[in-house]
Amino acid sequence: MRLKDKVAIVTGGANGIGEATCYRFAQEGAKVVIADLKEDEVKKVEQKIKDMGGEALGVVCNVADKASVDAMVQKTVDTFGTVDILINNAGITRDAIFHKMTEEQWDQVFDVNLKGVFYCCKAVVPIMRDKGYGRIVNISSVSRFGNPGQANYSATKAGLVGFTRTMAKELGPKGVTMNAIAPGSIETAMFLAVPEKIREVAARANALQRPGTVEEVANAILFFASDESSYVTGQCLQVDGGVMMP
Ligand SMILES: NC(=O)c1ccc[n+]([C@@H]2O[C@H](COP(=O)([O-])OP(=O)(O)OC[C@H]3O[C@@H](n4cnc5c(N)ncnc54)[C@H](O)[C@@H]3O)[C@@H](O)[C@H]2O)c1
Repeated sequence: MRLKDKVAIVTGGANGIGEATCYRFAQEGAKVVIADLKEDEVKKVEQKIKDMGGEALGVVCNVADKASVDAMVQKTVDTFGTVDILINNAGITRDAIFHKMTEEQWDQVFDVNLKGVFYCCKAVVPIMRDKGYGRIVNISSVSRFGNPGQANYSATKAGLVGFTRTMAKELGPKGVTMNAIAPGSIETAMFLAVPEKIREVAARANALQRPGTVEEVANAILFFASDESSYVTGQCLQVDGGVMMP
């Protein structure tokens, strides 16, 4: 088992890529904390992991709210004793072409996608620094390279990569790695919210000519969360079927 007894927090773990990551981590022996907004769905994922014979804790948490994040991390420590892995996966879109984009749409996306990562890292990094071990994975997006209608989202996803590089340099001497994953078109609620015509074009705009599955992203996240990536930090891995080959 690649994550035996490791304590892993997955934000946005109740659906999509986060949910698949929770199950993948549980299969690899991790104690999984599902931190998400929606109580019913958090409980559903927690129960599924327990039914698989794994250990899980569902916590209702809004990553854009510092008190909520601090309480979630405290509950994790009270229950499992520590935090080894943090997956900053919670993310939202509020798409609009820039001249129609409202300040509210801009702020909502920044509050969740970037400020939420700041709050989670603020709460978890001191624990990892103290123990001299940690794995943090941030979920960016192929949109970091630019995508019309997503000025707010692209800015946060590109920002996450700069954050990842800086934090990797700061935390490397403390035994903590930070990497990012940039998914392309993955079949989740977020992707299905895109108009069908655009979805079809997007899904075929890659070398593999199809959208990705949540499991394919979860496998890449697992690599960065495990000790198999022990000499890799500050990287952003495209999991996009070959859209971008930077
Ligand atoms: N699906 C794609 O094609 C795709 C592509 C590139 C990047 N991504 C990124 O992958 C991540 C997961 O996306 P997904 O497609 O699985 O999305 P999803 O909408 O299926 O799931 C996102 C989860 O995050 C939770 N969430 C939203 N706001 C939250 C908050 N404030 N606090 C806590 N939880 C919150 C939601 O409740 C939901 O369970 C996101 O960061 C997204 O930007 C997705």
